[in-house]
Amino acid sequence: MDETKGAVPAGASAMPAKPDAWVTGVRPEFEDCLRQLVEIPTVSSDPARKSEMRRGAEFAADMLRHFGAEARIVNTEGHPAVVGEFRAEGALRTITVYNHLDVQPATPSEWTHPPFTYYAEDGRYYARGATDDKGPALVALFAARRVRSCGLPLNIRFLWEMEEEIGSPNFEPLVRHHKDELHTDSVLVSDTIWAAKGRPCVDYGLRGLLGFVLRLKTGTKDIHSGLAGGGARNPFAELVDLINQMYDSRTGKVRIPGFYDEVQKPTKAEMENFLASGFAVPKFKAAHGLKSLRSNDPATLMKSLWTQPTFEIHGFAGGYSGPAIKTIIPPMAEVKLSMRLVPNQDPKRILTLLRKFIHEVAPEVEVEPHGFLEPYLGPSTGPYAEAATEAIKYGFGRKPAFIREGGSIGAVVSMARVLKAPVLLMGLSLPEHSYHGPDEHFDWGQASGGMKAFGRYFERVAEI
Ligand code: BES
Ligand code: MN
Ligand code: MN
Repeated sequence: MDETKGAVPAGASAMPAKPDAWVTGVRPEFEDCLRQLVEIPTVSSDPARKSEMRRGAEFAADMLRHFGAEARIVNTEGHPAVVGEFRAEGALRTITVYNHLDVQPATPSEWTHPPFTYYAEDGRYYARGATDDKGPALVALFAARRVRSCGLPLNIRFLWEMEEEIGSPNFEPLVRHHKDELHTDSVLVSDTIWAAKGRPCVDYGLRGLLGFVLRLKTGTKDIHSGLAGGGARNPFAELVDLINQMYDSRTGKVRIPGFYDEVQKPTKAEMENFLASGFAVPKFKAAHGLKSLRSNDPATLMKSLWTQPTFEIHGFAGGYSGPAIKTIIPPMAEVKLSMRLVPNQDPKRILTLLRKFIHEVAPEVEVEPHGFLEPYLGPSTGPYAEAATEAIKYGFGRKPAFIREGGSIGAVVSMARVLKAPVLLMGLSLPEHSYHGPDEHFDWGQASGGMKAFGRYFERVAEI
């Protein structure tokens, strides 16, 4: 990486001369910290990893202390969170940096190297959590330590959640309970993905989520389909039929009446920004290993991914799934689903619509909700967006595109609501980093550019 690219004119930065040599200098330390962090398997959804979650929080708090920050573990009804802080003399402002240290599960057989063993090759760092979200968390920590050592008058607080990947069930209560201590002037979140390598993105929108399980019981035990078939009902067939009434699998359109009432069209200006993001259909297909798509038009795709709700089947449970077939009629079928929601869809209202629809067409089907996350839409202009634009230009040599994302981060809505502070989403992940997938990785190009960008962002924010 060319360390001189994107240098600012002399006097524009509080950083000393040669601001970039430090980034190269901290590389071995960064890699060592990342290794230690990813080798703790902080899988929040796995009850068997409870002690690893605690160990991860303790390690993170110790690491913050080692970096010269104050740190403590905040307990919740679930997994703990870690709060750290660099307090600066003469600081008039506080910025909170949010990241999450919990990760998705990993299936070792799908990985080239073991998922919880750090493996580095050609500046890429492989391990579960490397890009989502431990690498970006560390980048922010390194940048914060740097501006602090340069005497920047800004308090920098770290809020590291450990339940993001399970829908942040205890995050909003935590923030409410510690509202005064967590008072902040703004929030920086680094947990999102660029649309393409080399084309930085800042995000101002996230989708929400409503997860649910549908269950139908038509009997009490497996029965021989020759003895009872023709007379007995089939719970799988009935659930499939219900799903077909709720959703068009070819277009992805939801058929539940009222579902789209609150959905807003993206503006022309938004679509223009999206088109500047570097999103390209062949790359999108390649990054996700997809054979074909519902559309091949980039504008249609970006509109669907970032501004439209979805309906998704994640899996079926019940029945026979062993080798070959087994001629039974199962007594029960279960299907696991979720909907991604967009501004201004309210997950509670959507759940009510869903229950009403199912009550009318298939009253025997049980609906079990599994978590709500509200969608988020923030500003894409103003002083923080300007600061981010300049910081990214400085770190990566190119101005960002302002886009929305299809994923969900529960904490963002909670922080905006409770802390009443502007939230800026500056992600460092790339589509090829295999988010949630096998061989997840982060890379030094994103880390080094990110350190420069975050350092510059802190400097700019101290002046707002
Ligand atoms: N970092 C992601 C959110 C994200 C995904 C942002 C894609 C931008 C693009 C986050 O860690 C995540 O995976 N969230 C989950 C939450 C869910 C498990 C409750 C998600 O979106 O599925
Ligand atoms: Mn994440
Ligand atoms: Mn994730």
